Amino acid sequence: MANNLFVTNSTAATTFIVVLFSLLLAGKSQTFSTSLPRTALRLGKQKLTHLHFFFHDVVGGPNATAIRVAAASITNTSTTGFGAVIMMDNLLTVGPEPNSTRVGRAQGMYASADLNDMSFMMVQNYVFDEERYNGSTLSILGRNPIMSPVRELPVVGGSGVFRFARGYTEARTYFLNATNGDAVVEYNVYVIHY
Ligand SMILES: *[C@@H]1O[C@H](CO)[C@@H](O)[C@H](O)[C@H]1NC(C)=O
Ligand SMILES: *[C@@H]1O[C@H](CO)[C@@H](O)[C@H](O)[C@H]1NC(C)=O
Ligand SMILES: *[C@@H]1O[C@H](CO)[C@@H](O)[C@H](O)[C@H]1NC(C)=O
Ligand SMILES: *[C@@H]1O[C@H](CO)[C@@H](O)[C@H](O)[C@H]1NC(C)=O
Ligand SMILES: *[C@@H]1O[C@H](CO)[C@@H](O)[C@H](O)[C@H]1NC(C)=O
Repeated sequence: MANNLFVTNSTAATTFIVVLFSLLLAGKSQTFSTSLPRTALRLGKQKLTHLHFFFHDVVGGPNATAIRVAAASITNTSTTGFGAVIMMDNLLTVGPEPNSTRVGRAQGMYASADLNDMSFMMVQNYVFDEERYNGSTLSILGRNPIMSPVRELPVVGGSGVFRFARGYTEARTYFLNATNGDAVVEYNVYVIHY
Protein backbone atom coordinates (compact mmCIF):
# COMPACT_ATOMS: atom_id res chain seq x y z
CA MET A 1 0.00 0.00 0.00
CA ALA A 2 2.69 2.41 1.07
CA ASN A 3 4.56 1.39 -2.00
CA ASN A 4 1.57 2.21 -4.23
CA LEU A 5 1.22 5.61 -2.59
CA PHE A 6 4.87 6.29 -3.25
CA VAL A 7 4.45 5.36 -6.89
CA THR A 8 1.39 7.58 -7.23
CA ASN A 9 3.12 10.54 -5.61
CA SER A 10 6.17 10.01 -7.69
CA THR A 11 4.07 9.88 -10.88
CA ALA A 12 2.29 13.08 -9.92
CA ALA A 13 5.61 14.76 -9.23
CA THR A 14 6.98 13.57 -12.57
CA THR A 15 3.91 14.88 -14.38
CA PHE A 16 4.31 18.24 -12.64
CA ILE A 17 7.96 18.45 -13.62
CA VAL A 18 7.20 17.45 -17.22
CA VAL A 19 4.47 20.11 -17.47
CA LEU A 20 6.73 22.74 -15.92
CA PHE A 21 9.56 21.80 -18.27
CA SER A 22 7.29 21.94 -21.32
CA LEU A 23 6.15 25.40 -20.28
CA LEU A 24 9.75 26.52 -19.88
CA LEU A 25 10.66 24.99 -23.24
CA ALA A 26 7.62 26.54 -24.90
CA GLY A 27 8.73 29.93 -23.56
CA LYS A 28 12.29 29.28 -24.64
CA SER A 29 11.34 28.28 -28.19
CA GLN A 30 10.16 31.84 -28.74
CA THR A 31 13.52 33.29 -27.75
CA PHE A 32 15.84 33.76 -30.69
CA SER A 33 19.15 34.21 -28.89
CA THR A 34 20.36 33.48 -25.39
CA SER A 35 23.73 34.01 -23.81
CA LEU A 36 24.97 30.76 -22.25
CA PRO A 37 27.77 30.13 -19.79
CA ARG A 38 30.54 27.94 -21.30
CA THR A 39 29.68 25.34 -18.65
CA ALA A 40 26.33 24.79 -20.40
CA LEU A 41 28.11 22.68 -23.04
CA ARG A 42 30.71 21.36 -20.58
CA LEU A 43 33.55 22.75 -22.69
CA GLY A 44 36.85 21.58 -21.24
CA LYS A 45 40.32 22.70 -22.21
CA GLN A 46 41.13 23.03 -25.89
CA LYS A 47 43.23 20.28 -27.41
CA LEU A 48 45.52 20.25 -30.43
CA THR A 49 45.20 16.99 -32.37
CA HIS A 50 47.38 15.82 -35.25
CA LEU A 51 45.86 13.33 -37.69
CA HIS A 52 47.88 11.60 -40.38
CA PHE A 53 46.35 9.53 -43.14
CA PHE A 54 46.29 8.79 -46.86
CA PHE A 55 43.50 9.73 -49.25
CA HIS A 56 42.76 7.49 -52.22
CA ASP A 57 41.49 9.45 -55.20
CA VAL A 58 40.35 6.71 -57.58
CA VAL A 59 39.12 8.41 -60.75
CA GLY A 60 39.53 5.56 -63.23
CA GLY A 61 38.11 2.10 -63.67
CA PRO A 62 34.93 0.40 -62.48
CA ASN A 63 35.58 1.20 -58.80
CA ALA A 64 36.11 4.93 -59.15
CA THR A 65 35.30 6.87 -55.96
CA ALA A 66 35.79 10.32 -57.53
CA ILE A 67 33.50 10.96 -60.48
CA ARG A 68 33.09 13.97 -62.73
CA VAL A 69 29.49 15.16 -62.44
CA ALA A 70 29.58 18.47 -64.29
CA ALA A 71 31.65 20.52 -66.66
CA ALA A 72 31.60 23.87 -68.50
CA SER A 73 31.54 24.40 -72.24
CA ILE A 74 35.25 25.29 -72.06
CA THR A 75 36.33 22.45 -69.73
CA ASN A 76 37.61 20.14 -72.47
CA THR A 77 39.61 22.87 -74.21
CA SER A 78 40.84 24.57 -71.02
CA THR A 79 44.45 23.68 -70.09
CA THR A 80 43.32 23.40 -66.46
CA GLY A 81 40.01 21.64 -67.13
CA PHE A 82 38.33 24.73 -65.75
CA GLY A 83 34.78 24.11 -64.60
CA ALA A 84 35.02 20.36 -64.06
CA VAL A 85 33.23 19.34 -60.88
CA ILE A 86 34.16 16.01 -59.29
CA MET A 87 32.10 14.36 -56.58
CA MET A 88 34.02 12.03 -54.30
CA ASP A 89 33.66 9.48 -51.54
CA ASN A 90 37.34 8.65 -51.13
CA LEU A 91 38.83 6.09 -48.78
CA LEU A 92 41.13 7.30 -45.98
CA THR A 93 43.70 4.86 -44.59
CA VAL A 94 46.53 4.89 -42.04
CA GLY A 95 49.16 3.87 -44.58
CA PRO A 96 49.59 4.55 -48.31
CA GLU A 97 48.33 1.14 -49.49
CA PRO A 98 44.58 0.97 -50.17
CA ASN A 99 44.40 -2.22 -48.09
CA SER A 100 45.95 -0.47 -45.07
CA THR A 101 43.70 0.13 -42.00
CA ARG A 102 40.75 2.27 -42.91
CA VAL A 103 40.15 5.40 -40.79
CA GLY A 104 37.29 7.01 -42.70
CA ARG A 105 36.17 8.61 -45.95
CA ALA A 106 36.57 12.03 -47.55
CA GLN A 107 33.16 12.97 -48.92
CA GLY A 108 32.49 16.07 -50.91
CA MET A 109 33.64 17.62 -54.13
CA TYR A 110 36.45 19.36 -55.86
CA ALA A 111 36.24 21.63 -58.86
CA SER A 112 38.78 23.09 -61.23
CA ALA A 113 38.65 26.76 -60.27
CA ASP A 114 41.74 28.36 -61.83
CA LEU A 115 41.89 29.35 -65.49
CA ASN A 116 45.71 29.42 -65.64
CA ASP A 117 47.17 27.04 -63.06
CA MET A 118 45.99 23.59 -62.05
CA SER A 119 44.08 24.28 -58.87
CA PHE A 120 40.99 22.84 -57.28
CA MET A 121 38.53 24.34 -54.89
CA MET A 122 37.89 21.58 -52.37
CA VAL A 123 34.82 21.16 -50.21
CA GLN A 124 35.17 17.98 -48.23
CA ASN A 125 33.93 16.39 -45.05
CA TYR A 126 36.19 13.79 -43.54
CA VAL A 127 34.00 11.26 -41.75
CA PHE A 128 36.03 9.08 -39.42
CA ASP A 129 35.26 5.55 -38.30
CA GLU A 130 38.35 4.91 -36.24
CA GLU A 131 37.25 4.00 -32.67
CA ARG A 132 37.40 7.24 -30.68
CA TYR A 133 36.60 9.44 -33.69
CA ASN A 134 33.84 7.16 -35.02
CA GLY A 135 31.12 9.30 -36.60
CA SER A 136 32.94 12.57 -35.99
CA THR A 137 33.59 14.82 -38.96
CA LEU A 138 35.92 17.61 -40.03
CA SER A 139 34.99 20.08 -42.76
CA ILE A 140 37.68 21.32 -45.12
CA LEU A 141 37.24 24.20 -47.54
CA GLY A 142 40.20 25.50 -49.47
CA ARG A 143 42.36 25.95 -52.52
CA ASN A 144 44.38 22.98 -53.71
CA PRO A 145 47.05 23.80 -56.33
CA ILE A 146 47.78 20.12 -56.97
CA MET A 147 51.16 20.66 -58.69
CA SER A 148 52.66 22.25 -55.54
CA PRO A 149 54.55 19.82 -53.31
CA VAL A 150 52.61 20.96 -50.20
CA ARG A 151 49.14 22.48 -50.22
CA GLU A 152 47.52 23.99 -47.15
CA LEU A 153 43.76 23.91 -46.73
CA PRO A 154 41.77 25.36 -43.84
CA VAL A 155 39.72 23.18 -41.50
CA VAL A 156 36.61 25.28 -41.05
CA GLY A 157 34.68 23.21 -38.54
CA GLY A 158 33.72 19.81 -37.26
CA SER A 159 31.21 17.67 -35.44
CA GLY A 160 31.25 15.08 -32.65
CA VAL A 161 34.61 15.18 -30.89
CA PHE A 162 35.56 17.93 -33.33
CA ARG A 163 32.85 20.43 -32.37
CA PHE A 164 34.20 24.01 -32.60
CA ALA A 165 37.16 22.69 -34.64
CA ARG A 166 39.51 24.95 -36.49
CA GLY A 167 42.89 24.31 -38.01
CA TYR A 168 44.55 23.38 -41.23
CA THR A 169 45.55 20.39 -43.26
CA GLU A 170 48.64 19.84 -45.41
CA ALA A 171 48.26 17.75 -48.55
CA ARG A 172 51.16 16.08 -50.34
CA THR A 173 50.78 13.90 -53.41
CA TYR A 174 52.28 10.54 -52.49
CA PHE A 175 51.55 8.73 -55.73
CA LEU A 176 50.04 9.73 -59.07
CA ASN A 177 49.19 7.35 -61.90
CA ALA A 178 49.67 9.62 -64.92
CA THR A 179 47.80 7.13 -67.13
CA ASN A 180 44.43 7.12 -65.38
CA GLY A 181 44.79 10.00 -62.92
CA ASP A 182 44.46 7.90 -59.76
CA ALA A 183 46.27 9.51 -56.84
CA VAL A 184 47.21 8.79 -53.25
CA VAL A 185 47.51 11.96 -51.19
CA GLU A 186 49.11 12.18 -47.77
CA TYR A 187 47.28 14.43 -45.32
CA ASN A 188 48.54 15.94 -42.08
CA VAL A 189 45.72 17.63 -40.19
CA TYR A 190 46.32 19.95 -37.23
CA VAL A 191 43.11 20.76 -35.44
CA ILE A 192 42.18 22.64 -32.27
CA HIS A 193 38.99 21.43 -30.60
CA TYR A 194 37.57 20.73 -27.14
C1 LIG B 1 36.42 -3.50 -57.98
O1 LIG B 1 35.83 -3.95 -56.78
C2 LIG B 1 35.45 -5.31 -56.81
C3 LIG B 1 34.69 -5.60 -55.53
O2 LIG B 1 35.38 -5.12 -54.42
C4 LIG B 1 36.71 -6.17 -56.97
O3 LIG B 1 36.35 -7.52 -57.02
C5 LIG B 1 37.43 -5.76 -58.25
O4 LIG B 1 38.64 -6.46 -58.35
C6 LIG B 1 37.70 -4.27 -58.26
N1 LIG B 1 38.24 -3.89 -59.56
C7 LIG B 1 39.33 -3.15 -59.69
C8 LIG B 1 39.74 -2.84 -61.10
O5 LIG B 1 39.96 -2.71 -58.74
C1 LIG C 1 34.40 16.48 -72.90
O1 LIG C 1 35.09 15.26 -72.81
C2 LIG C 1 34.35 14.22 -72.17
C3 LIG C 1 35.23 12.99 -72.00
O2 LIG C 1 36.49 13.17 -72.48
C4 LIG C 1 33.12 13.92 -72.99
O3 LIG C 1 32.36 12.91 -72.35
C5 LIG C 1 32.27 15.18 -73.11
O4 LIG C 1 31.17 14.96 -73.96
C6 LIG C 1 33.10 16.34 -73.68
N1 LIG C 1 32.30 17.55 -73.55
C7 LIG C 1 32.23 18.47 -74.51
C8 LIG C 1 31.38 19.67 -74.24
O5 LIG C 1 32.81 18.35 -75.55
C1 LIG D 1 48.28 -5.06 -49.32
O1 LIG D 1 48.59 -5.04 -50.70
C2 LIG D 1 49.98 -5.25 -50.99
C3 LIG D 1 50.17 -5.13 -52.47
O2 LIG D 1 49.52 -4.02 -52.99
C4 LIG D 1 50.40 -6.61 -50.47
O3 LIG D 1 51.79 -6.78 -50.68
C5 LIG D 1 50.09 -6.72 -48.98
O4 LIG D 1 50.36 -8.03 -48.54
C6 LIG D 1 48.64 -6.41 -48.70
N1 LIG D 1 48.44 -6.38 -47.27
C7 LIG D 1 47.38 -6.90 -46.67
C8 LIG D 1 47.32 -6.75 -45.19
O5 LIG D 1 46.49 -7.45 -47.31
C1 LIG E 1 31.20 3.06 -35.49
O1 LIG E 1 29.84 3.37 -35.32
C2 LIG E 1 28.97 2.54 -36.07
C3 LIG E 1 27.55 3.07 -35.96
O2 LIG E 1 27.36 3.77 -34.79
C4 LIG E 1 29.11 1.11 -35.61
O3 LIG E 1 28.27 0.27 -36.37
C5 LIG E 1 30.56 0.69 -35.78
O4 LIG E 1 30.75 -0.62 -35.27
C6 LIG E 1 31.50 1.65 -35.07
N1 LIG E 1 32.89 1.32 -35.40
C7 LIG E 1 33.88 1.32 -34.50
C8 LIG E 1 35.23 0.97 -35.02
O5 LIG E 1 33.70 1.60 -33.33
C1 LIG F 1 47.99 3.11 -63.83
O1 LIG F 1 46.77 3.00 -64.50
C2 LIG F 1 46.79 2.11 -65.59
C3 LIG F 1 45.44 2.22 -66.30
O2 LIG F 1 44.39 1.96 -65.42
C4 LIG F 1 47.07 0.70 -65.09
O3 LIG F 1 47.11 -0.20 -66.18
C5 LIG F 1 48.40 0.69 -64.36
O4 LIG F 1 48.63 -0.58 -63.76
C6 LIG F 1 48.42 1.75 -63.26
N1 LIG F 1 49.76 1.86 -62.70
C7 LIG F 1 49.98 1.72 -61.39
C8 LIG F 1 51.42 1.84 -60.98
O5 LIG F 1 49.11 1.52 -60.57
